[in-house]
Amino acid sequence: MAKESKHCSFCGIAASASVPMIAGTEGYICEACVQLASQVVSSWGKKKELNEMQTTLPKPLEIKAILDQYVIGQNLAKEILSVAVYNHYKRLKHESSKADGLGEADTNVEIGKSNVLLIGPSGTGKTLLASTLAKIVGVPFTVADATTLTQAGYVGDDVENILVRLLDVADGQISKAEWGIVYIDEVDKIARSPEQAFGTRDVSGEGVQQALLRLVEGSHVKVPAKGRRKDHSGSDTVTVDTRNILFIAGGAFPGLEKHVEKRLMPPKTAIGFHAEVSNPDDKPSLEAMLNATQPDDLKRFGLIPEFIGRFPVLAPLEPLDVDALIQVLTEPKNALVKQYQQLFAFDEVELEFTQDALVEIAEKAIARNTGARGLRSIMETVLRRTMFDVPSKENVSRCIVTAEVVKGEGEIQLVECDTREEPKLQRLSGGE
Ligand SMILES: Nc1ncnc2c1ncn2[C@@H]1O[C@H](COP(=O)(O)OP(=O)(O)OP(=O)(O)O)[C@@H](O)[C@H]1O
Ligand SMILES: [Mg+2]
Repeated sequence: MAKESKHCSFCGIAASASVPMIAGTEGYICEACVQLASQVVSSWGKKKELNEMQTTLPKPLEIKAILDQYVIGQNLAKEILSVAVYNHYKRLKHESSKADGLGEADTNVEIGKSNVLLIGPSGTGKTLLASTLAKIVGVPFTVADATTLTQAGYVGDDVENILVRLLDVADGQISKAEWGIVYIDEVDKIARSPEQAFGTRDVSGEGVQQALLRLVEGSHVKVPAKGRRKDHSGSDTVTVDTRNILFIAGGAFPGLEKHVEKRLMPPKTAIGFHAEVSNPDDKPSLEAMLNATQPDDLKRFGLIPEFIGRFPVLAPLEPLDVDALIQVLTEPKNALVKQYQQLFAFDEVELEFTQDALVEIAEKAIARNTGARGLRSIMETVLRRTMFDVPSKENVSRCIVTAEVVKGEGEIQLVECDTREEPKLQRLSGGE
């Protein structure tokens, strides 16, 4: 009896030496059909993961409104970031509709990403903006610190580790991580160091910039799987496509304004008795100079042109003035004054700052030149003694901080519970 020939039940191809079949209870399936089925199933998974991420699609105005609750001022940077994140969502939506209709109709335009570079003095809210964004975006978000990175093969983190962290946040789902947002902090620290121009390799500076190029641009990067779901090859790495990952970089770039200034106002050569000497008052403000930053200035600072080119959107942050610092002290959801008031409230003590005291704290912070970062240490110094004494005092109900206390010329007033109408003041040393 002639042996019955085997055919694939899906495509009908006949079995041969080069077309092996897998047998089922009712029929057969060929290798090509198995692969096709696997692709279809994985595209279902991908679509499901993409759909999961876009349940909420906040508008730029809504994103900014949330940032406003935590970050004072910086309207330009907030607007730029809100738009960047919103466009990221739109690209995601576009991509998943492509997955739906398998790339037909009006969806064959490929939308590229616009990475953002935040530039602003220390303590003006760059890291705060990024960590606040992390709270509100519906896609995986991770913050990486450029100072810990080194070129591959040297002691330190390889740039691929950024993707490992993103994968962790995405619960190991690669297609989710591929739509994540990465914030790279302190990028000014990987500027090329001038001393290393000759001979030695700049493995933590220019080397890192070069290693980041590939990641930021969009490529297939092999990432150690570490017990995660592995790819088809069964190797211990997984491949992450970074084409759709949005990168936001931030740095203080101290001294960048000098390069901008040189470009904007070339120094006048003042020689002779009648030469015009430039007036230092004509100098544009730090804010104006940061706003005028051009890629060329960043190049002079020590970033390589290829790196700058991959961050087409520059977002300047403004230095915080006295009013802004007072707002930082009192307004955000977890403002410093609120934090210390809460600490005192645990001992059932009210903590009060007079308006003058707040102005004085803000002015001191400006003198320190560390932006809002200086506020906490000033507060600590001012309140240190009181925080030491008050818990052991039974009947104190209020502490009042005045400008004199901040200046170090007076003491914090302690008001006792039972004598509220007629405050009996105890003297306690405070301030610096
Ligand atoms: N615009 C702001 N609004 C509210 N708080 C702020 C603002 N800027 C800074 N702060 C406060 O100062 C602290 C330091 O700010 P942040 O870490 O964002 O500084 P940075 O800009 O990243 O500085 P650096 O360049 O030194 O890293 C924050 O924890 C926050 O409490
Ligand atoms: Mg920072």
